[in-house]
Amino acid sequence: MARTKIALIGAGQIGGTLALLSGLKDLGDVVLFDIQEGVPEGKALDIAEAAPVEGFDARVKGTNSYADIAGADVVIVTAGIPRKPGMSRDDLVDTNAKVMHQVGAGIRENCPDAFVICITNPLDAMVYVLQQAAGIPTNKICGMAGVLDSARFRHFLAEAMNVSVEDVNAFVLGGHGDSMVPVTRYSTVAGIPLPDLVQMGWISQEKVDSIVERTRKGGGEIVSLLGSGSAFYAPASSAIAMAESYLKDKKRVLPCAAHLSGEYGVNDLFVGVPTVIGEGGVERVVELRFTQDEQRMFDQSVANVRELVDSCRKLGAI
Ligand code: APR
Repeated sequence: MARTKIALIGAGQIGGTLALLSGLKDLGDVVLFDIQEGVPEGKALDIAEAAPVEGFDARVKGTNSYADIAGADVVIVTAGIPRKPGMSRDDLVDTNAKVMHQVGAGIRENCPDAFVICITNPLDAMVYVLQQAAGIPTNKICGMAGVLDSARFRHFLAEAMNVSVEDVNAFVLGGHGDSMVPVTRYSTVAGIPLPDLVQMGWISQEKVDSIVERTRKGGGEIVSLLGSGSAFYAPASSAIAMAESYLKDKKRVLPCAAHLSGEYGVNDLFVGVPTVIGEGGVERVVELRFTQDEQRMFDQSVANVRELVDSCRKLGAI
């Protein structure tokens, strides 16, 4: 059987981490693409030299040529610029929409059957631009945000209750911005819902509220700590979980920015919702029943995404 091929577009902080994780998890051969000369080749060689120590056989190649991504099974896109302290994800729209155009053309010409995961921000709008530019079916492309936002929420909850992160489950939905919606009712510790844990005295409502707020601003917290660049370890881990679910047909239920055609009352927009990811790509969108309050927050988040997509239209990126 032919080896699986994973193309990583963007060989920056997240791209390099994705390449290393793909190797460590034996997901397949890796092609690391970037417009910068030397960087993808250098990172690929460095990771290939870690392979004998770690014991993985993946071939890792760095390139500046889109022809090298031909036939890729999965493409993970991080090309573009990250934010600087004080910037919102939305400030990146002009530059990154143009980048998505180029990347989309590269995918269309070389691997139109791949499952594509977009990480570039502002996520929900960039995945839309990328899908249009690549001309691929909407079930074969999604954005990575929900797994990351939920992981941040899970980490904070586990720390506050002094329990293993493994036993904490959480859903964060909506757009990948400060209006994202951590759904506390569906967040659990070993199956026990968060509202019950509040009643049991495991955590106070005030603490839950502050964790929700910290989760919403989780990306910004790291941007200000780093001083330059944005988070890369957890974003890479999150995208790898999605790629693995597709490649191994695991059918994991993962929140991601998926194309909606009527679900949640939203038409023709990519927004963070729970999905099933398997060999068919985004195989299903899970429709939760919201309370009025949750619906209001979700609608606000969707409105923000729609505004960004409209500004991409005005820029001529769509
Ligand atoms: N084609 C391919 N690669 C590009 C292009 C392009 N047109 N433009 C920029 N790049 C490359 C850069 O050369 C750089 O190596 O994208 C890479 C981005 O890497 P970093 O600057 O290290 O950014 P990173 O932290 O990896 O984040 C990438 O993901 O989370 C989002 O907001 C973040 O949009 C940002 C993206």
